[in-house]
Amino acid sequence: PTNNSHNTSPNNKSPEQESAGGGTNILTTRQGHPVYDNQNTRTVGNRGPATLENYQFLEKMSHFDRERVPERVVHARGAGAHGVFEAYGTVGEDHISKYTRAKFLQEKGKITPLFVRFSSVIHGGHSPETLRDPRGFAVKMYTEDGNWDLVGNNLKIFFIRDAIKFPDFIHAFKPDPVTNIQSSARQFDFISNAPETLHMVTFLFSPWGIPANYRHMQGSGVNTYKWVNSEGVGVLVKYHWEPLQGIKNLTSEQASEIQANNFNHATQDLYEAIERGEYPEWELNVQIMEDGEHPELDFDPLDDTKLWPNDQFPWYPIGKMTLNGNPVNYFAEVEQSAFGTGVLVDGLDFSDDKMLQGRTFSYSDTQRYRVGTNYLQLPINSPRKHVATNQRDGQMAFYQDIAKGTNPHVNYEPSSLNGLKEAPKAGKDHTPYYQAALVRQRIDRENNFKQAGETYRNFEDWERDELIANLVGGISAAEQHIQDKMVELFTQCDEDYGRRVAEGLKMKAEMMAKEKASFVDQQGADGVQQANTDS
Ligand code: HEM
Repeated sequence: PTNNSHNTSPNNKSPEQESAGGGTNILTTRQGHPVYDNQNTRTVGNRGPATLENYQFLEKMSHFDRERVPERVVHARGAGAHGVFEAYGTVGEDHISKYTRAKFLQEKGKITPLFVRFSSVIHGGHSPETLRDPRGFAVKMYTEDGNWDLVGNNLKIFFIRDAIKFPDFIHAFKPDPVTNIQSSARQFDFISNAPETLHMVTFLFSPWGIPANYRHMQGSGVNTYKWVNSEGVGVLVKYHWEPLQGIKNLTSEQASEIQANNFNHATQDLYEAIERGEYPEWELNVQIMEDGEHPELDFDPLDDTKLWPNDQFPWYPIGKMTLNGNPVNYFAEVEQSAFGTGVLVDGLDFSDDKMLQGRTFSYSDTQRYRVGTNYLQLPINSPRKHVATNQRDGQMAFYQDIAKGTNPHVNYEPSSLNGLKEAPKAGKDHTPYYQAALVRQRIDRENNFKQAGETYRNFEDWERDELIANLVGGISAAEQHIQDKMVELFTQCDEDYGRRVAEGLKMKAEMMAKEKASFVDQQGADGVQQANTDS
């Protein structure tokens, strides 16, 4: 008998179908059909063969076959959480409106909902969370004026300062295209040819390169942005998140111990803390600089390989983030979340930082490919406010952003037929003036070594010891001429830095030579034994 013969209710639906429609626990297909048997494929006789019209099976299997979307090309391994941002309304003694007109920052105590995704950078979606790697710190605030994304890292600077180098830099750090194994020799080949990386490398190979977990790490926007006030006046700004739980990093040895037992420790730590109601908090700080090139500084304020010295550019807290909710569905919320540096609200702006502009192209470009054209319609990415555009259709469009009370026939602008209208201006435009030759050129104040040396000297003794040991471990895998180049570069940062790396490499080379010699002796002895046995 077919299933239809069981229909007994007056509206021609089986009791199961009614309960399925009523949202009970009845399993259905994605077409809403109740599933009567989820254990047995429909076959000709109970031994098969199966048939091609097997819709329930085909739907289930073909959906499974498509469960994975492409991973993020970087930052694939991550964890997310929901939370809120509470604005302080001030920058030091001043009301924040002196610097920015961004609405969600104006009022003391104003709450903005948000979503955060923490991540590691180089390896895949299930790689260990103990690796020496920067950590991503991406925040999406669902403000009354639309979304603001602050896509940052745990460290305050970056390896390169021009976006055109990013694919090469990432290739050098990702596994070898032949062996599929990450290789220090390849990494240091790139680093030795890109001295702007030295400052970041100094942080990365120190204990700051392995944060203990996500709750105890800082975050930073890294690139320089702008704030714009209602007069249209812009200032340069850098953002930093400070964990109120304190900062904790791991030595290589501590990280290896954790990794031996658990390669999800950071995700687990965050999830369990939130489940326990121990909500982690971070204060958002800004550093502010007058707009301009600042020739008095020995670095370019737009150079993301540089720190802005705290004594000259103090940190001002402007609000607090609390993470108070775990995702309900990892894929829908964490995997499909899409952050970008272009996602700014009125009152927040780009600086001329060319790295930032390169990033801004990259994020939404990759997301249209990774998640799909309509990634902004997904609940995790969609603003929590009125959205009304004339952008239409595309793969997986499930709604059109039509404003109530407007004419649905008008999907263009301008129109006199009650279509969508431009918004009134929120303040005076910020209109920087440009005049320069169009060039491909490095910036003038590269100054690749000075801050790297300062960072080296500012470390505590144990951090420096770790740094040297980790660098020696990595660089020793590189070819001799690359090792020599690295020593030369570190010496330019700080003489002691270069000397210690050189000594470490020498000792390592001697140790390796000894090991090799004793291995050869051993082989030789075995060989003799073998020969004796044969005879
Ligand atoms: C993710 C590109 C520099 C932080 C990504 C993704 C791309 C990308 C393509 C994957 C996005 C996705 O699939 O949704 C670039 C380029 C850079 C650059 C081209 C340089 C030119 C940086 C810097 C930082 C950073 C300097 C830190 C300030 C992040 C974070 C994520 C990410 C946190 C993960 C976001 C998430 O959790 O979904 N980047 N990136 N990136 N990037 Fe960058």
